[in-house]
Amino acid sequence: MINVAIMGFGTVGQGVADVIAMNCELIEKRIGQPVHLKYILDIHDFPNSPFSDKIVHDFETIVHDPEIDVIAETIGGAGIAYEYTKRALTAKKHVVTSNKELVATKGRELLEIAADKNVNYLFEAAVGGGIPVLRPMFQCLAGNRIEEVFGILNGTTNYILSRMVHGGVAFDAALKEAQSMGYAEKDPTADVEGHDACRKICILADLAFGCEILPECVPTTGISHLNLKDVEIGEKAGWHVKLLGRAVRGADGKVYAYVAPHLVEEHYPIASVEDVFNGIMVRGNAVGEVMFYGPGAGKLPTASAVVGDMMDAAQHKNRRRNIGWAAYDQAVIGEPEALSMRCYFRVKDRLDRIEEVFPKSEILYDEDEIAFITSEMPLSELNEREKLLQVCAKLCILN
Ligand code: HSE
Repeated sequence: MINVAIMGFGTVGQGVADVIAMNCELIEKRIGQPVHLKYILDIHDFPNSPFSDKIVHDFETIVHDPEIDVIAETIGGAGIAYEYTKRALTAKKHVVTSNKELVATKGRELLEIAADKNVNYLFEAAVGGGIPVLRPMFQCLAGNRIEEVFGILNGTTNYILSRMVHGGVAFDAALKEAQSMGYAEKDPTADVEGHDACRKICILADLAFGCEILPECVPTTGISHLNLKDVEIGEKAGWHVKLLGRAVRGADGKVYAYVAPHLVEEHYPIASVEDVFNGIMVRGNAVGEVMFYGPGAGKLPTASAVVGDMMDAAQHKNRRRNIGWAAYDQAVIGEPEALSMRCYFRVKDRLDRIEEVFPKSEILYDEDEIAFITSEMPLSELNEREKLLQVCAKLCILN
């Protein structure tokens, strides 16, 4: 029998308990022993939960219990979750998590502790919710040099955009819906301002490129300043607005990462990723482009990934050896301004002025204001030329 504990009984923690209970027989069959949920750590009592008898309030109960093998950390944040994870790994417990903030900021250190103690620190649920993407990327695509990884990494903002575009729902109402369905972070600013997507692109880039990309080094723009007018102009011209995280290996070998709303051509696969779904593209030098698609947030999809990691940890009592990345090195990280791309602008200027500043642009809208897509050039040059116009809105174009 394998004894497990859950730390944090919020949406994901409750989902983990549900999935273990719902699928106990097949889980036992697959790993060759029953999984026994022994403790749930939370500050609340949950008297109406079917798992109320498992609730404990003291972390010491779990960390000092020699019977506990695997702990699921679903507390979130990089505060107490960091302390508990460090102590659990040091006490030679396997830890699995859905906590993207902790993995993005402290993952390297925690993986080092896990390596030192010969236990696993696994975090498939931290990116893409229920989508298997991290393990396929560092395992099944291990024979590739990864050139680029990008995609829709936040379910809440994708849900909001879908509801606004297809349901005619206002931003605030769409956000409330996403919160009520358990998609949003405790503080939804992290979703709306792009910080959650930023943490996820950092984790993907850490694994894809083998070097630490810290969230504070990744330029991040969310959807709070997005104007519906640009969404409508884009839609009419065959482009969908998507919040994308992107990390790419430049010709100079450096890694460039950023998060921003993009216009995506409607025939491109991730353009049709709607609602809470995520779509993640990985480009390898042997495989070409691979897309991972599925539910990016929510109780049971996220719990599905956490429980998968718990089972993996239970089966690999010795640490999996192929997870990790090097310490942050400024020389390896490039400024996204050096990247070449096209951009969408909505401006107050006249057509002849636009043609002067951005020759060969594609005009999408020409009424009270003009909206256009530039030709491709380095972002630094786009930023310089943009100063010569009266810009109302700007969006990246996915090349
Ligand atoms: N708030 C996150 C999202 C949860 O909406 O994608 C899943 O990480």
